[in-house]
Amino acid sequence: MTPRDFEIDKDIRRASTLPARVYSDPEYFELQKDRVFARSWQWAGDASRVKAPGRVAPFTLLDGCLNEPLVLTSDDEGTVRCLSNVCTHRGAIVVEGEGHARSLRCRYHGRKYALDGKFVSMPEFDTTVGFPSEKDNLPQLPLERFGPLLFSGLAPEMTFDEWIAPVRERASFMPLDEFVRVVRPGGLFCVIEHNPLNPLTRLAVMRCEFDRDAALLRAGQTRRLLEDAGLRKIDTRYFVLLPWATPLMRRIERGLRKLPFGAQYVACGVV
Ligand code: FES
Repeated sequence: MTPRDFEIDKDIRRASTLPARVYSDPEYFELQKDRVFARSWQWAGDASRVKAPGRVAPFTLLDGCLNEPLVLTSDDEGTVRCLSNVCTHRGAIVVEGEGHARSLRCRYHGRKYALDGKFVSMPEFDTTVGFPSEKDNLPQLPLERFGPLLFSGLAPEMTFDEWIAPVRERASFMPLDEFVRVVRPGGLFCVIEHNPLNPLTRLAVMRCEFDRDAALLRAGQTRRLLEDAGLRKIDTRYFVLLPWATPLMRRIERGLRKLPFGAQYVACGVV
């Protein structure tokens, strides 16, 4: 068997399901690592991890797949970079834990790098000819940002703008970064949204000309967006379940607020 023993028709109407072995054969897995995952953008962490100058945050790009040790750094000016976390001397891991650092020092033989990955010094290499050179710096990977989310890749084939465009289109109505910026620390941020799990809500949205292109978010999706924006103590509650606004009905409704039946829901988080 070869990895090319099936055809994928570019015309989706003529395409068929991939053979099962594509999902279980190690040969395909290796091929996909190289052709798909190494050549595309991957989530690289939350920007809040390296918000302050001097922060360093090591991570593994696609743990269990690419297994590439990388590190996010924020230099004195607050410029964030994504660097290889593999020492250019003998391949040891340079940054082992998240925290503050003025420089990056490999603990194996003491090679030191600036926060932008440039080689700084190496004990007992003073007389070495042709040293240091460009290849002694920690390689820098592309790094892009969508809201609070950072993305990197070993060799992305698409530009980030091309790749993220459909997501921008769908999520641009919710500028979470800006919300977080304008709410004071400790302040409460709330989103009130139609509940797409309520059939009457869906019907109302479907019939409303104003909502023609609306994409309704489920409470769980909104919750994840708030988490990604760095909000804490996130809570979601459904409301407008019962049509009668009497005190008794309101009390009953409060008791049902965790069930996904209400016409709307509120998602809140602390900044
Ligand atoms: S492996 Fe890092 S200094 Fe030798």
